Amino acid sequence: MELLMWEDGTPAMMARGQFSYSSRRRTRVEELQAQLARLADCMRIAVIFGGDKRAPGAVINPTHNPRSWKSYESVAHDIAAALGRIGFRHVTTLPDDMRLGERLQREGIHLAWLNTGGVQGIASVGHAPALLEMLGVPYVGHNPLSAATLDNKNVLKRDLVLAGIPTASFMVWQRLRGPLDPNHNPTFRAVFGDDQGPFVVKPVSGRASLNVLYVESVDQLDDAVDEVHAATEAPLLIERYLSGREYCIAVCGEIVARQGQLVRCEQPFAFAAVERVLDRDEHIFTSMDHRPITVDRLRLLDPATEAGEIDELNQLARRIYCEFEVETLIRLDVRADQQGRMFVLEANPKPDLAAPTGERTSIVARGLRAEGMTYDDLILSLLADRIDILFTERRSMVSHLGALLQQRAGSAPRPGASDG
Ligand SMILES: Nc1ncnc2c1ncn2[C@@H]1O[C@H](COP(=O)(O)OP(=O)(O)OP(=O)(O)O)[C@@H](O)[C@H]1O
Ligand SMILES: [Mg+2]
Repeated sequence: MELLMWEDGTPAMMARGQFSYSSRRRTRVEELQAQLARLADCMRIAVIFGGDKRAPGAVINPTHNPRSWKSYESVAHDIAAALGRIGFRHVTTLPDDMRLGERLQREGIHLAWLNTGGVQGIASVGHAPALLEMLGVPYVGHNPLSAATLDNKNVLKRDLVLAGIPTASFMVWQRLRGPLDPNHNPTFRAVFGDDQGPFVVKPVSGRASLNVLYVESVDQLDDAVDEVHAATEAPLLIERYLSGREYCIAVCGEIVARQGQLVRCEQPFAFAAVERVLDRDEHIFTSMDHRPITVDRLRLLDPATEAGEIDELNQLARRIYCEFEVETLIRLDVRADQQGRMFVLEANPKPDLAAPTGERTSIVARGLRAEGMTYDDLILSLLADRIDILFTERRSMVSHLGALLQQRAGSAPRPGASDG
């Protein structure tokens, strides 16, 4: 399915081969669509997934994963397949590990798509973007600072507090400071006062509810801290448990594709306002590693009866997107207290982008149909928004892409590597 137009509508200056950069003006969308059509033929894209530290040659010394590791390789294949259907002819997938730079060079990759949580070590979500920055390879994904900051719930929540955005009361704890004695710890007393629970203990950097513990009462906190620390060997958070409904909302840049056609929204595009449906005694949403996320577990909010909630979620998402200088997709997890007041739990920098299949869905993909979008539209939106930012705001970083645009279709110099 060729969703991008070739040559039709190509602005005169491009037809003459005189590519020039332009600002993010409204009429730029047509130009962007034509640029993408041209790039589809010659731009080599690598979708990067999490490398396995046990693979020979992946790292110098296999160490520890404070953030639970997952390869996300199948999702990388979903993204690559969508890029192929959209019309990109040269798409491959590569693991994020010690050899990444060499492989990118050998395969002549012009642009990377980051779908990795890292290989190992501290702040692993930031490693691949840091490497790409150093190598001068542009990417769809968060910059190293944003990726690491968003993935660290302690840092993110401090920023939320600074911005005046509600988040569950919390404190950070490191096992190297010894056992946690809630009755005498001044920080605990300042944050929680005489609160006897329940609480949540969770890693500062985690995924899929892993090592997230519901703790009924204050006496059980220190054991929970021990348990999470034993699994992660990293700082952890103690939070007030919010017992109300749980929501998610996704947000990405202003350029959005519908049926392959790009439009520019007035503000960041917030979508997929859903409620995560919890079972009666399910305090913590069960990990997708143990129970697949099915459509019945994600209820789309109803604009007719829940316009207030949708509006609040959209505003939260757009505000965080702008104030935290986010530049590509995030998914907020939000939970309400008994009174229905919403609190941000986290802003996932790498929300699951698995293509929906039958009953199974990623949270983000659950909201696409209501927006008149397909999975391929979402992938095109994220790519197009990034290309737009690169060509308008980061010109000095993408002279190689500008050069590609000036070449005739199919005449890009080809490396020895095979195309995916
Ligand atoms: N303070 C809290 N109050 C109530 N429930 C909470 C709280 N913190 C976490 N949870 C529950 O634990 C789940 C996982 O927590 P959180 O989203 O912070 O971590 P995660 O493992 O990064 O999640 P994800 O599955 O989104 O990657 C939430 O979906 C929610 O059900
Ligand atoms: Mg979450």
